[in-house]
Amino acid sequence: MPQKVILPETLEGKTILVAGAAGFVPSTLSEFYLNLGAKVIGLDNFITGSRSNIELLSKYENFEFHECDVAEGLPNFEGIDIDFIFSLASPASPIDFKVIPLEIMKVNSMGTWHLLELAKEKQARFLEASTSEVYGDPEIHPQVEEYVGSVNPIGIRSPYDESKRFAESLTMTYHRQFNVDTRIIRIFNTYGPRMRPNDGRVIPNFINQAMNNEDITIYGDGSQTRSFCFVTDLVDAIHNVMFSEVHTPFNCGNPDEYTIKEAAEFIIKTLGSESKITYHPLPEDDPKKRRPDMHKLMTISDFKPKVGFEEGLKRTAEYFKSLK
Ligand SMILES: NC(=O)c1ccc[n+]([C@@H]2O[C@H](COP(=O)([O-])OP(=O)(O)OC[C@H]3O[C@@H](n4cnc5c(N)ncnc54)[C@H](O)[C@@H]3O)[C@@H](O)[C@H]2O)c1
Repeated sequence: MPQKVILPETLEGKTILVAGAAGFVPSTLSEFYLNLGAKVIGLDNFITGSRSNIELLSKYENFEFHECDVAEGLPNFEGIDIDFIFSLASPASPIDFKVIPLEIMKVNSMGTWHLLELAKEKQARFLEASTSEVYGDPEIHPQVEEYVGSVNPIGIRSPYDESKRFAESLTMTYHRQFNVDTRIIRIFNTYGPRMRPNDGRVIPNFINQAMNNEDITIYGDGSQTRSFCFVTDLVDAIHNVMFSEVHTPFNCGNPDEYTIKEAAEFIIKTLGSESKITYHPLPEDDPKKRRPDMHKLMTISDFKPKVGFEEGLKRTAEYFKSLK
């Protein structure tokens, strides 16, 4: 039985590198660590991230930013101590899988490789952000970490699924070959402020359609299920994994499960919208069920999601309204 997670009270004096810092989850994570007293170095090439997130982080004097494509190489960190590296740079929306598939494959392979080399050189602890997509269209439910997945290696989602599977494999290989102190998380659908309104993922899509009283577009009959995690809960889960002593993957998400139709109806009700639901053909390889089994993380830490779906939706909708 692994040791129970002990979280640090402060990270003053520590340096954290966040690859993908201009993105939705990584910028929220960066701000969390700045508030814990760490110095945060952010890297991003803005392929899906936003400059406004970097402006926000730049208000902290302990934040430093380098614009770079981590798949091409990293800035020169000679003489700089780095304690923790978060490998979070990767587009994550299904829309991106079709538009920028090669960029996704490059960042999850070469980008992860460069960051692992840096972790090896600096003797930094390293965390790879993988995804529930590594389970593909799962045959077991809920998904436990031991399940090895059911992924179509040549399907339209494969640039993302397979490159994340490669990133996991590379991370474990650096751990086995070079004893790099690695962690792996598999993130399940996460939503919240700082997502792009036109991101293409289900929650921002539905919220924006509901806010504008437009038809809510469901792909398929809406019976497919997803579990939605609010971003601050995800950051809490990531923090617990980083301070665990476990190298094998952890699911990170909220185990509450909704059908897509229920989620659409809930959003219409919560936001007091007049939108109607319309149905469209289901895309290829769309997973029918998704729910994380969270026992592994919950057994070794005090992690528990705190933000319910209704509150999370309202906070996300307020954010989208503030952009108008
Ligand atoms: N949000 C989710 O529901 C979810 C689910 C599963 C996994 N993840 C993973 O979490 C991480 C963050 O996802 P997110 O939802 O915040 O997406 P995001 O697109 O908002 O953030 C990713 C960031 O990485 C940057 N990036 C991409 N390629 C890069 C490169 N080559 N060099 C430098 N920067 C690069 C982007 O510009 C962006 O700022 C990703 O690795 C993603 O695969 C997220």
